[in-house]
Order: sequence, then structure tokens, then C-alpha cells
Amino acid sequence: MNHPVSGVAQLRDEDTAKLAARLSAPSWVGHRQLLEWVDEIAARTRPARIHWCDGSQEEYDRLCEQMVAAGTMRKLNPARRPDSYLAWSDPSDVARVEDRTFICSESEDDAGPTNNWMAPAEMRATLGGLFDGCMAGRTMYVIPFSMGPLGSHIAHIGVELSDSPYVAASMRTMTRMGRAACEELGADGEFVPCVHSVGKPLAAGEKDVPWPCNPTKYIVHFPETREIWSYGSGYGGNALLGKKCFALRIASTMGRQAAEVDRKGWLAEHMLILGLTSPEGRKYHVAAAFPSACGKTNFSMLIPPKALGGWKVTTIGDDIAWIKPHADGRLYAINPEAGYFGVAPGTNDATNFNCMASLRENTVFTNVALTDDGDVWWEGMTKEPPAHLIDWQGKDWTPEDGKAGRKAAHPNARFTVAATQNPVIDADWDSVEGVPIDAFVFGGRRSTTVPLVTEARNWVEGVYMAATMGSETTAAQAGATGVVRRDPFAMLPFCGYHMGDYFAHWLRMGRELQAEGARLPAIFCVNWFRTDENGKFVWPGFGENMRVLKWMIDRIEGRAGGVEHLFGTTPRYEDMGWDGLRFPRSDFERITSIDTAAWEREFELHAELFDKLGERLPDDLREVKERLRERLAAMR
Ligand code: GTP
Ligand code: SPV
Ligand code: MN
Repeated sequence: MNHPVSGVAQLRDEDTAKLAARLSAPSWVGHRQLLEWVDEIAARTRPARIHWCDGSQEEYDRLCEQMVAAGTMRKLNPARRPDSYLAWSDPSDVARVEDRTFICSESEDDAGPTNNWMAPAEMRATLGGLFDGCMAGRTMYVIPFSMGPLGSHIAHIGVELSDSPYVAASMRTMTRMGRAACEELGADGEFVPCVHSVGKPLAAGEKDVPWPCNPTKYIVHFPETREIWSYGSGYGGNALLGKKCFALRIASTMGRQAAEVDRKGWLAEHMLILGLTSPEGRKYHVAAAFPSACGKTNFSMLIPPKALGGWKVTTIGDDIAWIKPHADGRLYAINPEAGYFGVAPGTNDATNFNCMASLRENTVFTNVALTDDGDVWWEGMTKEPPAHLIDWQGKDWTPEDGKAGRKAAHPNARFTVAATQNPVIDADWDSVEGVPIDAFVFGGRRSTTVPLVTEARNWVEGVYMAATMGSETTAAQAGATGVVRRDPFAMLPFCGYHMGDYFAHWLRMGRELQAEGARLPAIFCVNWFRTDENGKFVWPGFGENMRVLKWMIDRIEGRAGGVEHLFGTTPRYEDMGWDGLRFPRSDFERITSIDTAAWEREFELHAELFDKLGERLPDDLREVKERLRERLAAMR
């Protein structure tokens, strides 16, 4: 491609120009430090060639073509799924690897007991060995990207160096990637350096495999120097380093550090952001944190039941929110991403019509099944599975296999699609200012104990609820599923520093804003996942979650009733709208009741987490726990 000489090119001095020429950097790269870093990493990893990603459609198409030729992806039938591809990963590389994820702060205490830690020098030595020559025979892609709208004061820039074309193509969909991000950097802008390798160097003449990866995996963060190093995996959050590594682990440390300067700092959260327009045309914004594969994408695009009278939900983000205090005293949020890397299984026209509509074209599917007519299928997409499929491991599959428990799609199979394909994208999703948050929602996957919805009595008790949240594990992380673990703020795998300091950061931000007279967002806790004795979900969920959202808005507006229980206010049956849904009072009671014996045990688990966090646990939260336990005792 032929680019006109840009402003930044003129900033190059003679040495920089020489370096740029040696690295075959295009004219729009004028950042001396970036060039030097690319040079250094190339010298260590020794790729066969360097490609600077401009983020164009032509480049994306070329990357896809190349991956089809290499057997990494296949093109889907254009009549069924235009401009879409299917990739099957190596069966050993299908989800985030939490036990291989490290926060390498100088002090072990700063990483805290919920993160894996290794001394930076020791980790650098390990990485030194692994990255030495690891890109041999491959192309190193230089991938400049912006997390957040270009030019937003909330946005930040990163550059990922990766030897995976799948990562380069995915980063174009998931972030604002390419030339514009690089130009935004100018000659001396700040960026977070991210190095990624699949860890499979090719010897001269060696034939590549369709999904290169390495059984040894390291997902490493150096919070003090804001560096990310990822080795051995090509999948999702392990490899698309703008997402969990930068936008959550590094950004969470940046947000807290900023508070040392302005007392408030900012927040990087595992939250969807949705816009909600009332029948009267009033606009609200809700940010909700649920653990991985617990319904963020679904909630962010839900279709309200018509019987509720003309509410509308629009999507700002489906996975990550960056939230900063604004001059007007309110918290404003942006979605740092530009695409969705969402869970396919369970998604269908009834559970998430808008999501299905987003996936009609221009989509990369990973680890779903292939139909005989060149389209995709996954568990839950249709009631009846097709008579024959090729499963995600390339084997024949029939409904008989399904009955025997063999899945056609991997449970953590995902789609990668641009946010702009969402039919209910919010008009402000790309706004540089962000949107003002009216409510925070926290929810886990709990088959027992936790009621449908509770409004916290105040900020501190809301932080307590979020901090002590438990959730059953899903296929989004490698390891056992269905195990209840504490997942504070849905951030357990994503907080880049000590979890006790993280709670303190939330408490301080609330305190500072309140001291300035700001009205803080309300905090709610939800659970869509209570089951009956047959293991069936009692609450219909999905679009019907709008009923809960409506109760929240009515609470904020002072319209809705409720009753105070153990840790907040919950709606009575008559406080919720039931038009258009047959949901008996007895079922409602089943999912809102407080089982005091179960809560005794739950508090034991809270105490366990608090003990683990030790001295850095804020006293405020210990006090809330004591208060709530007294309340519980009084209820027995
Ligand atoms: P990550 O992308 O992993 O962070 O997850 P996410 O929170 O965006 O997950 P997603 O929305 O993709 O949730 C996927 C799973 O949650 C699927 O199995 C859905 O069927 C299920 N799910 C979503 N919403 C609901 C709900 O309201 N009720 C029930 N029972 N299941 C739900
Ligand atoms: C999650 O696991 O929470 C995800 C998917 O959103 S990944 O990007 O792989 O982390
Ligand atoms: Mn997520």
C-alpha cells in the first residue's frame, strides 16, 4: 500500500530514519522508542520477517487468506455466512490458563495472595530462555492498538508484537488497531509494550501445524514497568493482549496508581456497559460485573419483553469497562474494546437474538462445529442438532454422540466480531467522554443461597457484596467447572495487584466522591442461576432479566418498593412487573428466600477470603461482616 508522508514521519531524525528503514517500518511510524523496542525484540526472537499492521481491510483479508492456506481457518459458505471463518485450535489450547498467569511486581505482597507471583528478575531470566529465537521462521506482526476511542482522555495505547496471524487479525476486530493508533502515539507517546509468541519456532523447511502453540505457557505482567509477556498459547485472553492483560491487569494497576496523584484514580473492571431508555425516553447507564461465561454479553444486548411497555437496551460494551470520575462528579465509563470475543454455546435466537444477528457475517468462529453446508453450529444454537457435523476437533459427529455426552463445539467456543455489527449498539458506544453510570450490578453463578436481586444499603455494603461474591467456575478458564469459588468483583483472575488494596481503592473512590457531594451509583447484586431440585434454572433469565433492571431503575427513581433483608433491599413479589410472564409467587419466593443456615456457611467463606487477604483488607469490610453476622444471628 502506498501511504502519503504523514506528520510523524517528518519527526524522524536521521538515526530514527535509518532504524525505520532497517525494520521496514512504514512512513507513519515515527516513534523512536517504539522502533528501538521492535528492533530489540526482533533481535531476541529472530523472526523471518516483520509486518507492521496498518489495520486496513485489505490487510485483514490477506491475513485470513493466508490462514486458510495454512489450515488454521476455513472459509465458511459465503451463501450461509458471508466473509466468515472457522478456526479450530489445538485441543490443549482452548481457554485462559489462570495457573500460568503471573503478576511479577517487585514485592510479592503487592501481587497479593490471589495472584501467582514470581520475582521479576527470576521471571525475566525464564522468559529470556523461552523467547530466545522463538519466532524463527515466522512473521512478527507489529500491532499498534488503542484501548478506547482514539483521542479519548480515558483511552490508552498499546503495541503488541506477535508471531500469530490469528492474533493480528483478531486484534483488528477487538481494538482500534493499525495506522491511526500509531499516529496517535506520535513521536513520543506512551504505550504499553506487549510481547506474544505461540512458542513454536520453525526450523528451515519445517512444515507448520494449523494451530501452533507450546505446552509450556506463561502469561506474565510486570506492573511497575507496565509490560506484558505471553508465551505458548494462541487463544483468547492468553494471546489478545489488549483484553485481560492490558485492559484489566495492567489498567487496574494504572487506575489505582493514578489515585496517588488525584486521590480518586480510576477503575478498570470486568464489566459490561448497557444503555437503558425508559418508555418516557429517559436514558440510564448500567455497568455490570459477572464472572467469565456468566452472562455479560447476553445482558448487554437483551431484548426487553414488550409487555413491560417500551423499554430499550443498547450496548456500550460486553466485557470490560474503564471508569473515571468526571468534572460533574459522576463516574463515566468507556468500553476500551471495539469488538466482542463472546461465548458461542447457549447463544440462540431466543436467548440472544441481537447477538445472533451480529454474527450473520464478517465473523471468526473458534472451536465451534462445522455443518455439512459449510456453516457453524454449537450446543444450544437450535433445539434439534443437525443430523451430521464435523466437531471442533475435526471428527464426525451425530446426535448420537451428543447423547453420549460428546460436545460438537468446545464449551468455551467463541466468536470474534466487530461491535459495529451489533444491531443494538448504543449511539454513544464510541463517545470519547464515555457515559455516566447510574448503577453497578454484581452477579455470580450460584445454584443456591444468593437471591435474585438485592440493593445494597450504601456504597460500603455494596463493595462488601461485590468483594465477597462467589461463583461456580465455567469453561472460560482451564480446569474444573462448577466449583464455587470467591470471585471478588468478577476480577479474581484479572486484578493486577493485591485484592485487599483493590477493595480499598473502591472504598476510597466512593469516599472521595461523596465528600465532593457527588451522588454515587447505586449498587445491586444479582443471581440468575438458582436451580430447582432437578437442577433446572428457576428464573427464566435472558430478556426477562429486564424485569430486574426495571426494578433497579424504579428504586433509583424512588418509585419501587422493597423489603430489607440481611444485606440490603429486595423486591417483594408485588414490587416487580409480571405482565407477559407467568412466574408464580412460589417460584419467586424460592429464588429470593434467605436460607439462614446456608448464609452461616456463606459467611464462613467470606471470612476465609478475608483471612487470606490479611492485613491489607480494609477495616470497613471487616466491620460490615460483623454487622451482617449479627443481623443474621438475630434472624434465626
Ligand atoms: P466472558 O466473555 O467469558 O467474560 O463471559 P460473559 O459474561 O460475556 O458470558 P456470556 O454472556 O457469553 O454467557 C454465556 C453463558 O451464560 C451461556 O451459557 C448462557 O446461556 C448463559 N446465560 C447468559 N445469561 C443467562 C441468564 O439470564 N440465565 C441463564 N440461566 N443463563 C444465562
Ligand atoms: C473471559 O474469560 O472472561 C473472557 C474471554 O472474556 S478471554 O478473552 O479469553 O479472557
Ligand atoms: Mn470476560
